[in-house]
Amino acid sequence: MEKKKRKAPPGGEFLSDVKELRRRARQHIEDGAVTRGYTANRGKVIAVLNEALATEIVCVLRYKRHYFMAQGIHAQAVAQEFLEHANDEQGHADRIAERITQIGGEPNFSPEGLATRSHSEYVEGVSLVDMIREDLVAERIAIEAYGEIVRFLGDQDITSRRMMEEILAVEEEHADDLKNLLATLDPTKPG
Ligand SMILES: [Fe+2]
Ligand SMILES: [Fe+2]
Repeated sequence: MEKKKRKAPPGGEFLSDVKELRRRARQHIEDGAVTRGYTANRGKVIAVLNEALATEIVCVLRYKRHYFMAQGIHAQAVAQEFLEHANDEQGHADRIAERITQIGGEPNFSPEGLATRSHSEYVEGVSLVDMIREDLVAERIAIEAYGEIVRFLGDQDITSRRMMEEILAVEEEHADDLKNLLATLDPTKPG
């Protein structure tokens, strides 16, 4: 490759484009957060984020069910863990929904088809160990799916990717919590 003769000005090439960037930002002001630098297929990103949203909502419902059931069988420590996870998943759902609107989409909160859009399943579970095991399965599915979403977003939509990376890290913590709980309650079957 030929060596560059002229050194880039301080600040690099970005600086010379500031005027053009500002002009474009004004021109497309109605697009909100989506600028021309946004190279992703917006429809596809919105669809993928709506699947993640459905996953989070299903996780909230499942953890809530488990929270109230565990309270009924006097398993306070486990119930608290379920409640904490339910609240985390609700926070994830809110972040994803907000991001969908930022990129000009509509968050799908419809109960119709919710379980189909979701990556993870809603399994009630009978015993406490059942519940924890089902939650661990759901977390592992979310971890797989979110990893794929992160790779799909790549450099095309950095903000959505960063959000999904942060959520992914929390799901990994959830899976770890559940694995530890399971090991405490059911030493014969570690996660
Ligand atoms: Fe989550
Ligand atoms: Fe989770």
